[in-house]
Amino acid sequence: MSDRTPEVLILAGGLSHERDVSLRSGRRVAEALRGAGVDVTVHDVDDTLLPALRERRPELVWPLLHGATGEDGSVRDVLEMLGLRYVGAGPRASRCAWSKPVAKTLASQAGVATPRFVTLPQSLFRELGAAEVLRTVLDSLGLPLAVKPSRGGSALGVTLVRSAEDLPRAMVSCFAYGDTALIEQAVDGTEVAVSVVDTGDGPRALPAVEIVTEGPYDYDARYFPGRTEYFTPAGLDPATAERVAAAAVDVHRALGLRHLSRTDLLVDADGVPQFIDVNTAPGMTETSLLPQAAVADGLDLGSLYRSIVEIAVAPDGEHVPVPSD
Ligand SMILES: Nc1ncnc2c1ncn2[C@@H]1O[C@H](COP(=O)(O)OP(=O)(O)O)[C@@H](O)[C@H]1O
Ligand SMILES: [Mg+2]
Repeated sequence: MSDRTPEVLILAGGLSHERDVSLRSGRRVAEALRGAGVDVTVHDVDDTLLPALRERRPELVWPLLHGATGEDGSVRDVLEMLGLRYVGAGPRASRCAWSKPVAKTLASQAGVATPRFVTLPQSLFRELGAAEVLRTVLDSLGLPLAVKPSRGGSALGVTLVRSAEDLPRAMVSCFAYGDTALIEQAVDGTEVAVSVVDTGDGPRALPAVEIVTEGPYDYDARYFPGRTEYFTPAGLDPATAERVAAAAVDVHRALGLRHLSRTDLLVDADGVPQFIDVNTAPGMTETSLLPQAAVADGLDLGSLYRSIVEIAVAPDGEHVPVPSD
């Protein structure tokens, strides 16, 4: 057991289009941790990172990277190869969460409802003829549909399709962001994001944040101020609030996630939470949903992040309190 505050190295930046969000997440978590007495440095993801990690061997790395390498498990693979401890899911769990069809399959095996879907690569459209494939999709899944890249984030390439004529265009914009499309039944309902944290007593859901926006919660709606309203806690009746909390915890467990995650759900007309996707490196900026939910739960962010550090540096998930200085 360490008898001093561990040195935490936050990874923020990287080359994804979410670089700016990542840098802001990094700054906020660093400030909160420093306020809670933890020794923190922030490092970008560039060609100086591996030499720095090798030389300094921080006791804990906290990757706050959003988008591909940050969330697809590859940075975590590198940290594993270096034998370093880190916050959040391991490489395999990250990879499962990053792939929407895999995450949906695991969620549904765990008893969490998720919209019916198919996963179709672009090559199949060439082989079988796009019109015939789309006709089969429409006959099977009906309308409306959500079309999105099977991996990705920030709603890039995501389209809600309400009429058959709009489907080909949705496919084109989806394939601009990835070579495999996930086509799922669209849910007309209340969108909520449920953050889950585990500081040693098992995963626990924070109050759901309700997302109210005109049209889909797309890139503009997320990053342009004023396009979206957030309500924490969500305006759900107590039974539905319990169901969404349980669904997010079930997803966290089913995918083998660690420390923190954020599950996006759409509550359908029957009050059933439908799993949409899960984020293993949720945004942690001043306006992000996980910190909003934590504050609504009465938590102090510095103390929460410090507890996450304590559990993450502990061997085998054992909780080791970090002494105050
Ligand atoms: N099946 C669906 N039904 C209705 N809206 C959806 C569906 N899937 C996605 N959306 C809308 O599109 C947004 C982005 O989709 P999502 O799969 O969460 O992508 P990302 O990984 O970018 O968060 C969601 O926040 C939601 O508003
Ligand atoms: Mg989402």
